Amino acid sequence: MAKNKTASEFKQYVYIVQASNTGNVCKIGITDNLERRLKEYNRGLSPKDIMEKAKKVENDEFYTRYEDVEKELSMYDKSVWKDKTVFCNCDDAVDEDERKTSAFVLYFLKKFKELGLKKLICTHYGGKVDLFNQGSKSYVAYIFTTDGVKIEKKYPKGYDGSFDHPISLKILEEEADIVCTNPPFSRSVDYWNMIIGSGKQFLIISNITNVKNDTYIPYFKANQVWAGYNEVDWFRNPKRELTRAAGHWYTNIPINDRLRFKQLKIVPLKDIPEKYKKHDDSKTLLVDNCYIPNNIEKPFAVSVRPILNGLLEKGYKIVQDKQYRPYVDGKEIFARVLVQKI
Ligand SMILES: C[S@@+](CC[C@H](N)C(=O)[O-])C[C@H]1O[C@@H](n2cnc3c(N)ncnc32)[C@H](O)[C@@H]1O
Repeated sequence: MAKNKTASEFKQYVYIVQASNTGNVCKIGITDNLERRLKEYNRGLSPKDIMEKAKKVENDEFYTRYEDVEKELSMYDKSVWKDKTVFCNCDDAVDEDERKTSAFVLYFLKKFKELGLKKLICTHYGGKVDLFNQGSKSYVAYIFTTDGVKIEKKYPKGYDGSFDHPISLKILEEEADIVCTNPPFSRSVDYWNMIIGSGKQFLIISNITNVKNDTYIPYFKANQVWAGYNEVDWFRNPKRELTRAAGHWYTNIPINDRLRFKQLKIVPLKDIPEKYKKHDDSKTLLVDNCYIPNNIEKPFAVSVRPILNGLLEKGYKIVQDKQYRPYVDGKEIFARVLVQKI
């Protein structure tokens, strides 16, 4: 490395480019001069034009940042990915500029060899609003496939790119080994039903409160899903601004050495400070601040936090298919999950 270069000069970018006259041929690579690469393939849109367009869009969608994808995915053993086909079924693998490409796609393209992936398949939803509002061309759904060398982009007739379109479901069933994405929050219930029903491995982002939501509790209870390693607090909106939202990773891939186990305070009931334990009007024990009694046989209620920190891997189970709504002195307080020592 030349001595005078600063760290930022060595920053590498993954780029995917597509010339406008060759609609289904893309080129990918890694560069330290993204400006130049983009100029080469510039279709005449200036960054200002793009921002002006983006300002006109109103939506509540949240796009995942590269650093959040990397932080979570790097926690899993490399053997998880080896020779696997990864399916990103709500992710744009776009032709022109990494800033408009899903961070999931960028991550898998960049790490393709290192992870030993077999194939990456990404679908682009042909909705009106999509990753960073790419304009009218974004209404056209496509399927992007790469084996790490060749790239193919297909536009099947009648395909809308939805994760529940028959073509997407066929890819899921016949080709995918691991599904990885941040699905649309508005279709979260359908998405969870579909992905868990598929029996495939998955690693997805969803709302942090799913753990205590009646729709999802049965999945946690049946051990069909558990928390991934990290929360996701920041996303980008279509204007590329940072936006706060309470997300969390969820998966059915085994978790090793969950760092947040140490936040659980599993102790005899007498060692839980008074302010973190109380009984509700029906005499059920409620515990807070990640304190967990280890000498109580009866069910007790906890917030989402201990579950996200791995309580269900520490000899406790969920005992009720819906959230527990405690009343104290006749007043309803925040909902929890009813758990019990196994
Ligand atoms: C929360 S955003 C996340 C996008 C991307 N996965 C990421 O993490 O940055 C959800 C994306 O799903 C797309 N989408 C909406 N409905 C969809 C559907 N039925 N099937 C597939 N994708 C859909 C939206 O266009 C949007 O780009």
